[in-house]
Amino acid sequence: MAQQRTSAELPIRDERVIDGKAFAAGLRGRVADAVAGIKAGHGLTPGLAVVLVGENAASKVYVKNKALQTAEAGMKSFRHDLPVETTQDELLALVAELNADPAVHGILVQLPLPDQIDSHAVLAAIDPDKDVDGFHVVNAGRLSTGTGGPLVPCTPLGCLMLLKAYVGDLTGKRAVIVGRSNIVGKPMAQLLLGENCTVTVAHSRTRDLDAECRRADILVAAVGRPEMIRGDWIAPGATVIDVGINRIDAGGGKTRLVGDVAFDEALEKAGLITPVPGGVGPMTIACLLANTVTAACRQQGIEEPDFSA
Ligand SMILES: NC(=O)c1ccc[n+]([C@@H]2O[C@H](COP(=O)([O-])OP(=O)(O)OC[C@H]3O[C@@H](n4cnc5c(N)ncnc54)[C@H](OP(=O)(O)O)[C@@H]3O)[C@@H](O)[C@H]2O)c1
Repeated sequence: MAQQRTSAELPIRDERVIDGKAFAAGLRGRVADAVAGIKAGHGLTPGLAVVLVGENAASKVYVKNKALQTAEAGMKSFRHDLPVETTQDELLALVAELNADPAVHGILVQLPLPDQIDSHAVLAAIDPDKDVDGFHVVNAGRLSTGTGGPLVPCTPLGCLMLLKAYVGDLTGKRAVIVGRSNIVGKPMAQLLLGENCTVTVAHSRTRDLDAECRRADILVAAVGRPEMIRGDWIAPGATVIDVGINRIDAGGGKTRLVGDVAFDEALEKAGLITPVPGGVGPMTIACLLANTVTAACRQQGIEEPDFSA
């Protein structure tokens, strides 16, 4: 039997495979150029504060990468590593300090938080204009009403940038999003509505999920279930954006990352598809950097750069 390719081994030159890694590198370059311009023109250095509570191994890696890429883009990076026993009041006091600090234009509190802390209360305490994760209800409201210039959650923002770059005008496309979380599915739906797509949001109670998916010109999978979406769920020529990041057993004591879409099967049907890893993932931090620059410009009344081009 022929050995199956994994997405990580695929030649990324396949023109149907969206190279999120390269696109994210380009976006980080545009962010760095914008930062240099803002420094030279306005004497302002955008600053991002990242708060980590506890020792979650995955969170530590994310936070390290965020800090590193913030500095590489020429911005100030403020790290706050708090012990796992930090109380909610202590964390809220730090958030209040960061809200008031003029050198901090973006605040990110890494989730998940330890059990003694109510993450909703903490996210609600962040100044919405510094909420570069876009999770504050004010930003969710601004996004859903199309008013007030929201800060948009980074992962769906990255998906939209890829879609606009690779597909072009999205007007009239049938979009199906599988997953309705506040951080991916719902904001993705709002963004695609804003692009004049006809949007369906599917979830764990959706009937005939495979048939719903087959109707999609654009299929966004944000479920958290390894390879749940099969090749025969995809309409010929559809664009597939796989947000899922799932670590599975690869045998021999090893693990590997897969998405929510069965990549090799989907590649037989899709017109365009993001791999995992190397698709949506790298866009998330790049969009965090872009959001920090956007937030800094809005706070200082400086014209904001257009990162979409
Ligand atoms: N690339 C990135 O940077 C990035 C960023 C964020 C998340 N992710 C990944 O994206 C995935 C989703 O993340 P999330 O935070 O949105 O997850 P989440 O909060 O757990 O939400 C999962 C969604 O999937 C739906 N779902 C679960 N099982 C289903 C099924 N069998 N059929 C249909 N729908 C089902 C759930 O429906 P109900 O609402 O009905 O329960 C829920 O709406 C995860 O793999 C996560 O690791 C990646």
